[in-house]
Amino acid sequence: MADRTVNIGLSLGADICWPIAYESLFEQVTRGFELDGRRLDFRCERVTIEPFDLRQPVKYDLVIDRLTHWYSISREWIKKAIVLNDLYVYNNPWSLQSNEKHTSYCAMMRLGLPIPDTWMLPAKAYEPSDDLQATLNKYARLFSLEEVGDRVGYPFFMKPYHGGGWRGVTRIGDLADLRRAYDASGTDVMNLQKAVLPYDWFVRCVGLGPQMRKVNYDPSAPLHDRYRMDIDFLSPEDRSILEDMTLTINAFFGWDFNSCEALAKDGVWHPIDFANACPDSQVTSLHYHFPWLIKANLRWSIFCAATAKPMRKTMDWAPFYAVADRDLPFREKLHEYAKIAHERFETERFRDFCRTKLGHLDELAYEFFGSATLRDAVRQKVTALFPEHEVEEFTELFWQRIQTWREQEGARGDADGF
Ligand SMILES: Nc1ncnc2c1ncn2[C@@H]1O[C@H](COP(=O)(O)OP(=O)(O)OP(=O)(O)O)[C@@H](O)[C@H]1O
Ligand SMILES: [Mg+2]
Repeated sequence: MADRTVNIGLSLGADICWPIAYESLFEQVTRGFELDGRRLDFRCERVTIEPFDLRQPVKYDLVIDRLTHWYSISREWIKKAIVLNDLYVYNNPWSLQSNEKHTSYCAMMRLGLPIPDTWMLPAKAYEPSDDLQATLNKYARLFSLEEVGDRVGYPFFMKPYHGGGWRGVTRIGDLADLRRAYDASGTDVMNLQKAVLPYDWFVRCVGLGPQMRKVNYDPSAPLHDRYRMDIDFLSPEDRSILEDMTLTINAFFGWDFNSCEALAKDGVWHPIDFANACPDSQVTSLHYHFPWLIKANLRWSIFCAATAKPMRKTMDWAPFYAVADRDLPFREKLHEYAKIAHERFETERFRDFCRTKLGHLDELAYEFFGSATLRDAVRQKVTALFPEHEVEEFTELFWQRIQTWREQEGARGDADGF
């Protein structure tokens, strides 16, 4: 008989591969789990979508959510479950709903991160509404697009202020480009952001709790080749800066799982896209890095659920602002922000939990990522995305990359020390 049942829910959309890998390893790694002399019985299931009574109890201790950012009933159920039933969910849904990409730029500028200069433009067109014309007639100032373009300085990127999946992102090289892109932007409110070009490195730093994976990223490659497979391509100081920036962003906004895109130019890391509520988790893009993600996800979710880590329902920004206002060089401030993040993520307690309670994960994962179950999960995802005549070839490609991970990293445990 278990002393306590721990329930984890997966709130999923079109996800196929990672839930299969997560569930298979979850079942194995939580078998016979003991914590503080008590037996914990772990269960994991997929959350279904249905009518609900606001007062009905929620059985889950923790939910891993992939829907909040676009599917409102799931978001509202999650918000109810947090405020009424003390659920832990990643990520904070209020923060996701209100802190757009644009706000994330502003906040990180305030903390001193080298965000490229960024402007915002009023929308080119509007949906009709009652007070629109009166408001625009009275207050919308005519502006010269040419002047704004010159102030930002070419080249720059025009992108929707709320971001999302590369939609509506245009590289602007001159005034003609700017006019064309603005005319095409319709009702979208756009940011113009100074280009960091040419850059020396483009890195996606994926954070799951305090665990960080720095991936060399090539946005010009086909989707299946964007995540490069090199490891150890950064100096220890570069790694540390990227980690501290991502920790700062994620702790500031209450995001457990988020990725930060940063470009290095002339020795400076410029974050350019870091409000990514639902980071890519598919084997078809992550391939070599997929096992890391599954393991990191298992560690963080099991830790939070087993130890009943309370979810931060509100965002307490004051400690970050207090550091920002101190008279310190930026690198030291960043270090101080990261310290706040480590406190919030309880990094030391988490590290200890991983060592004492999840030490067997490495070996289980090494076996699992060489198994027929995993190969079939890869095939299912490839089948959903690729034309039939490419299924065999791409299943084999992703499978082989995962086998390379097993040889290079899986056999000796992950390099990130958890
Ligand atoms: N300031 C910049 N300097 C250089 N390149 C940029 C800049 N902003 C955007 N880009 C390029 O445009 C791409 C898309 O921009 P961004 O990542 O901000 O939008 P997104 O819609 O969130 O894209 P995704 O969902 O693919 O991450 C980036 O991956 C990068 O290649
Ligand atoms: Mg991006």
